[in-house]
Amino acid sequence: MIVSHLFLGLITLFGLSQAQWDENMWEDRNTIVHLFEWKWNDIAEECERFLQYKGYGGVQVSPVSEHIIMANRPWWERYQPISYLLTTRSGNEAEFSDMVRRCNNVGVRIYVDVVMNQMTFRMGTVWGTGGSVAYTDIQYYPAVPYNSSHFNPDCGISDPTNPSDTRDCALFQINDLNQRLDHVRGKLVDFMNHLIDLGVAGFRIDAANQMWPEDLEVIFKRLNYLNTNHGFASGARPFIFQEVSDLGGDAISHREYLHLGRITEFKFSVEIGRMFRGFDQLRYLTYWGEGWNFMSSNSAVVFVDNHNNQRRNGVGGDLILTYKESKQYRMAAAFMLAHPYGSTKVMSSFAFTDANMGPPQDGNQNIISPGINADDTCTNGWVCEHRWRQIANMIGFRNAVRGTGVNDWWSNGAQQIAFCRGGSGFIAFTIDGTISQTMQTCLPSGTYCDVISGNLINGQCTGKTVTIGADGLGYVQLADNEEDGVLAIHINARV
Ligand SMILES: *[C@@H]1O[C@H](CO)[C@@H](O)[C@H](O)[C@H]1NC(C)=O
Repeated sequence: MIVSHLFLGLITLFGLSQAQWDENMWEDRNTIVHLFEWKWNDIAEECERFLQYKGYGGVQVSPVSEHIIMANRPWWERYQPISYLLTTRSGNEAEFSDMVRRCNNVGVRIYVDVVMNQMTFRMGTVWGTGGSVAYTDIQYYPAVPYNSSHFNPDCGISDPTNPSDTRDCALFQINDLNQRLDHVRGKLVDFMNHLIDLGVAGFRIDAANQMWPEDLEVIFKRLNYLNTNHGFASGARPFIFQEVSDLGGDAISHREYLHLGRITEFKFSVEIGRMFRGFDQLRYLTYWGEGWNFMSSNSAVVFVDNHNNQRRNGVGGDLILTYKESKQYRMAAAFMLAHPYGSTKVMSSFAFTDANMGPPQDGNQNIISPGINADDTCTNGWVCEHRWRQIANMIGFRNAVRGTGVNDWWSNGAQQIAFCRGGSGFIAFTIDGTISQTMQTCLPSGTYCDVISGNLINGQCTGKTVTIGADGLGYVQLADNEEDGVLAIHINARV
C-alpha cells in the first residue's frame, strides 16, 4: 500500500498522467453499471427514471463505433470495428450525444468501451453498421482510412509466454492495428477526443494487454481534458480502466499498466465466485483486498462477472457467478458493494443460452428495448441485475458508508460473517446456519430497514427491520435459507 501510494505520488509529481484513476463521478454517487448492448435512447431513459434515484455513478456502454455485421448477430461483432463513425444498433451519433447529455444532467457518467487493438477478422469485402465498406482481406478500411501498412504482421501468436508475440502479431486472422505508428495513434486519439467532446467521462480499454503500454501512454497523454460543459472540473482527465486479465502468472503482467490508469482485477471476480459458491469459509474474507494479493485498491476495477467471463469464455471458468445462480450472485454482489476495496462495476446482462448469442432482437435484427415491470425488474429478454432490489439498494448502502473502513468484524469461525462500515452501515452474511444474536452494528439508536429483504418506501419498510439501542447493539436474525443470506442496514434507511 505504502509503496503504491508513493508510486502514484511520483507519477503525479512528474505530471505523466494525471488522475486517470478518478471516475469523475458526482460526489454522492458510486459504481458503474455495464448496460451491455443497450440502445442509447434506452440508456438515457434509464439514467432519468432509475439510475439517478438509486445513486449509480455511471454507465459502461458497449462499443460505439461502426462495426461488422455478422450472421446471427453475435455480441462480439461489436468488437470488430470498420470505422469510427458512431453508428451501431444502439443508435447513431445524435442519439449517443443526446444520451450523454441527459445522463450527465442527472449525475450519471458515461464510459465507453473502446476497441483500439484491432479492426475486423479477414473475411472479404464487408459492410458495416454505418454503411461503410471494408476490404478486410487486403486490410483496407477506407472510412478511417487504414491500409495494410497500419497493421501488425501475421506472424502468429506462437509463444503465448512471449509478450511481443501477443502485442505484435495478429491473433486468429484478426487485423491487428500497430499503435506504434503515428497515423494509427492519431486516428485513435481523434476518435476518443471526439467522444470526450461529446461529454463522456472515460474509457474501458478493451484488450489492453495486447497493446504496448508505451504506445497507450502516448495515446492517453494526447487525450483532451473532460468537457466542462458537461459539469466536469476544469483539468479533469478521462477515467481509464484497462482490460488485463492476468491472474498473476501471465507473461504480460498487469503491473506494466498500473501507471496508465485502473485495471480490471480478475482475481476479485474469480475469488468472490469461489467464496460465495461455498468452496471456502467466509471467515477468510476478513483479509479481502490487498490481503488476498489483489492489486492496490486504488488501481482496481472490481466486478462479480463481466460480459466475457459470464459466458465461461474467460478467466475463472466455472467459478464465475452469474445471474443464472441468482441467490449466490446477489450475495456476492452485496459483499462487493459493502466492502471498500476497489472501484465497483455491476454487470447488467441480456439472458443467453448460447455464449455467442447477441441481444434480444426483432425480425429485422433491431435490438428490442427492455420493458419494465411494476417491481422494477425487466422483460423482453433483459436480465437487468442492476435493478434487482438487493443490488440496487446496495448502491445506496455504498453511498451511505463513503469514506469509512471496515470495523467490528465478526465471524462464527466458519460461514457466517458481519461487519460495520464506520458508524454508517452494518451487514451480515450466512451461507451455512442461522444467525440469531445481538450484535454490534455501530449505528445510532433507532429502527432500520434491511435493504436486502425490502425497500424503504415513505418511511415504511417492506422487509425486515432491526432495532438498535444506544449502545449500537441490535438483534440480528438471518437464516441461510432465506431469499438472501444477507442483512444490510445503513444510516440513510432509518424507518
Ligand atoms: C497507406 O496509407 C498511408 C497514409 O497513412 C500512405 O502513405 C500509404 O501510401 C498507404 N499505403 C498503401 C499500401 O496504400
